[in-house]
Amino acid sequence: MCGIVGYIGPRDATPVILAGLKRLEYRGYDSAGLAIIEDGRIKIRRDVGKLSQLESLVEESPVSGNIGIGHTRWATHGEPSARNAHPHLGMTGDIVLVHNGIVENYMELREELSAEGAVFNSETDSEVIVHLVERYLSTNGNLVDAARNALSHLRGAHGIVMISSKEPDKIVAARIGNAGGVVVGMGEGEMHIASDMPAILEHTRKIVFLESQQIAVVTRQGLDILALDGRTIDYQVSSVSWDPVSAEKGEFKHFMEKEIHEQVRSLTETISGRIDFRNGHSIRLPELNLTQKFAQDIRKIFITACGTAAHAGMVGKVLIEHIARIPVEVDIASEFRYRDPIVDENTVLLAVSQSGETADTLAAMEEGQRKGATLWSIVNVIGSQAMRISDGYISMQSGPEIGVASTKAYTAPLVDLYMLAILLGDLRGTLDRKSRQKLVDDLRLLPDLAGRCLDREAEVERLARELIHVNHCLYLGRGINMPTAYEGALKLKEISYIHAEGYPAGEMKHGPIALIDREMPVVVIAPRDPWYEKMFSQIEQAKARGGVVIAVATDGDQTIADIADHVLWVPHTPWLLSPVTTVIPLQMLAYHIAAQRGLDVDQPRNLAKSVTVE
Ligand code: M6R
Repeated sequence: MCGIVGYIGPRDATPVILAGLKRLEYRGYDSAGLAIIEDGRIKIRRDVGKLSQLESLVEESPVSGNIGIGHTRWATHGEPSARNAHPHLGMTGDIVLVHNGIVENYMELREELSAEGAVFNSETDSEVIVHLVERYLSTNGNLVDAARNALSHLRGAHGIVMISSKEPDKIVAARIGNAGGVVVGMGEGEMHIASDMPAILEHTRKIVFLESQQIAVVTRQGLDILALDGRTIDYQVSSVSWDPVSAEKGEFKHFMEKEIHEQVRSLTETISGRIDFRNGHSIRLPELNLTQKFAQDIRKIFITACGTAAHAGMVGKVLIEHIARIPVEVDIASEFRYRDPIVDENTVLLAVSQSGETADTLAAMEEGQRKGATLWSIVNVIGSQAMRISDGYISMQSGPEIGVASTKAYTAPLVDLYMLAILLGDLRGTLDRKSRQKLVDDLRLLPDLAGRCLDREAEVERLARELIHVNHCLYLGRGINMPTAYEGALKLKEISYIHAEGYPAGEMKHGPIALIDREMPVVVIAPRDPWYEKMFSQIEQAKARGGVVIAVATDGDQTIADIADHVLWVPHTPWLLSPVTTVIPLQMLAYHIAAQRGLDVDQPRNLAKSVTVE
């Protein structure tokens, strides 16, 4: 989704901004632009298409200066085009801004401003903001105050960054609600601003996160943070340790492929430091701030998330209910926020989010908090809004995930949820010492088991070659591996554009069975888990109707080998952890089908890495 970068300092802002935008490419966008103050005047370059298009434009028509802002746009209002691309310039030519989010009342503001004489040059909602700022500048002449006044008219959630040729010593930024983050990077004699940390980490690790309803005034020398009423606010500088090099593709063709292979490491990191071997293999999740009393008082957990993260939550439900015996409901965040859920102070709302900035998930958290729930989150991006507003959190330890299709940020939270279930079981007394030790011992096997799944990539790639021309695919799973079917189908559809549906296997006979023929492969997740026998009969039902069955099965399962048309083998895995190993061949299958179809695997059409609009 839209990305923002800004720079003020002694260097030429243009290459700094272009490099920052490049780091944000993974978020998904359809146009890009930048504005620089050169010799006291604002110069804009912007175009539709990839960043390389903007780079060529800048090469043909160079622009340079010590202050500037840049943007990658993911269209919401108005088609992807050069005139709708940001930055947007005001009528005086003195103010320019970039915007993430949606101005919900933009139609009425546009009419009001047009009646006052404003002329609009784009179809975007964002352009109303620059006209609003100009309205107030014409009366009091001060960028910060004009910005504050303009913000008071906007409905919706926003990240806004603006500069003025009349005040070329500062960048003014604002965050209202959850339309992605605004982070300020404190350099030596220079300052950076961005919607996401990867854009600025190569310059500085000293980061300030803007909260909602705050305005940042960034100069070469430093930063002031103001409330919307103009009061100065104290802020904290965080030190961030992410390695920008890990956001490079290295030997791999795509980030998704690299990230699939990084799962051994990310699972190891997820586990490491969290098992206390001296204390009977107990689990340590200190950032959760969980006391025995609170664990015992919990009556219900809502897990809320979107997409892949919601599938992880579905596995979490089975784990927590089985191990800790707490009732768990899984809610798609965009539904939870509007369905008036029954929540009280003995309820935990647990959000799962790679980015920690997904607008629907944050809104669901706010709804839970408003109703008195304790907020927990499992988040990958350190310092993200979800992490900051939580009463306790578990960090995924996956490192940056760049491919739009989530892979390592799916398996890491599975392990986090497993550890959380053990910890809760322990504190609530549903787990004896011996059972806990067994669960923890199983966990230690996991990185190796994941590695053994990855070793079979060549077989998966061969199968992918046979499937590149299919148009539809059905994925079936049951119990703890039902979400694996959902996730396998999501991976295939989002990067290969093949229609794929995930279904609870027992539901097949209630409808989808009508679709089965030689043209629609059926992927059946059938490891040796407690639902194995049931899955076997689903395979028979599909075969009896002429279906082509691809089974995900446990090594050595001759019965499955005899009946399925193809088998994706996984090593024997304790069933509570089996969703980690069964999903890996499905990630690889989706990847190889999409790659062999020659598609843009890392930035599939219409998708964004973090979805910061509703
Ligand atoms: O950043 P989040 O985990 O909150 O993102 C939620 C979904 O948008 C995300 O999981 C999406 O479904 C995946 N990238 C798809 O692979």
